[in-house]
Amino acid sequence: MAFTKDALEKPDMNEESDKALSFDKGRSSPSFEARPMEFDYQSTTPCDPAVLAAMEPYWNQYWGNASSRHSRMGLHASAAVSLAREQLAAFLKIQPERLIFTSGATEANNLALLGHARARALELGRPGHLITLATEHHAVLDPLRQLQREGFRLTELRPGLDGLLSAEKLLQAFEKDTFLVSVMMANNEIGVVQPISELTGLCKERGVAFHSDLAQTFGHLPIDLNQLGLDFMSVSGHKLYGPKGIGALVISSEFSLMPLQWGGGQEQGLRPGTIPVPLVIGLVKAAELAMQDLHSRYHRLRELRNQLWEGLLEQIPNLIINGSMEQRLPNNLNFTVPGVRGNQLHRELRSYLSCSSGSACSRGAPSHVLLTLGRTPNEAEASLRMSLGRDTTSEEVVKAVRSITKVVNELRE
Ligand SMILES: Cc1ncc(COP(=O)(O)O)c(C=O)c1O
Repeated sequence: MAFTKDALEKPDMNEESDKALSFDKGRSSPSFEARPMEFDYQSTTPCDPAVLAAMEPYWNQYWGNASSRHSRMGLHASAAVSLAREQLAAFLKIQPERLIFTSGATEANNLALLGHARARALELGRPGHLITLATEHHAVLDPLRQLQREGFRLTELRPGLDGLLSAEKLLQAFEKDTFLVSVMMANNEIGVVQPISELTGLCKERGVAFHSDLAQTFGHLPIDLNQLGLDFMSVSGHKLYGPKGIGALVISSEFSLMPLQWGGGQEQGLRPGTIPVPLVIGLVKAAELAMQDLHSRYHRLRELRNQLWEGLLEQIPNLIINGSMEQRLPNNLNFTVPGVRGNQLHRELRSYLSCSSGSACSRGAPSHVLLTLGRTPNEAEASLRMSLGRDTTSEEVVKAVRSITKVVNELRE
């Protein structure tokens, strides 16, 4: 739309759009009357109040540009970002210089994969071979497929029926010019946790760089980057009760990386642009909170998740678990309900609880992860990914079992 005087005179939001969105005016957020129980915490999480409090002064009290170190405000912002970087690096047991702040895990994945592949091709004078897993998030698959269009060769390995990639399978996939492998640590749909250090061990022996998307892992499982042997790793703020729009890439001191954009040289020139100081502070505060109760939360959520699964198995015949139950995030359950239509199942459940049939980014198609595990498109659609959050209670689990049983029984009649 052209920027005209008329446009300026229009109210910011006209009455029609006001009604359509049904905004609660006092709180400037859409109002929901009866809230279904939340079982979709792998899609995103609410910002923790302590995260909001930590970010607050950086919006308007300490509003400096972290790159403008000639001003007092700028110096303050710069010091806050440095401290935050050091803290996050300490959680990951790496040097702070290895951390590049990005807008989230999607950008971190793109920077690692496109940035390393293109840098490597420039060094070698030709593209080479890349390996990934067919069950990766689209934030990994799509940049790799872009590289394929640019002339790189890509192998998308199928995991076993339990969703896990064996070291033997990876070994067989190496080609003479394989230089990059990307395998996520914990899957966002089926929650399976890959044997990362076995896989990185094979890559180390061959001088192959290893990238892993830890968007669903960081803050949920203990991470020691050196033990895991990762070269590049991506994390996201909003999966761990931090703000949306911030994440980080851990870069390698050994493998080259070229930027995807150019500008003011921030983040070692690898991710130029003004650093979003409040979001950085929020990400690191969220990480700090996640570290504090990581172990107790792991056990509590695993128990609740098992209670959920055992409760469902007792009530509903023929459920099929998707992915390994043993090598799995504590907060994830993913199962198929044979004998019902997926769209009906999800529609009927919606008023009781929020969950999903796949990734929040799956664009409505049946889950590529479940299809890869051998589910039919109908089965994939009639599947539920249930993810538990910090505040999930045993009562909610009992209610969820009851609601799902009721809906499935009615649909199967
Ligand atoms: C495994 C995985 N990678 C990447 C992303 C995207 O992360 P972000 O929203 O921070 O870009 C998600 C979020 O759904 C995810 O689950």
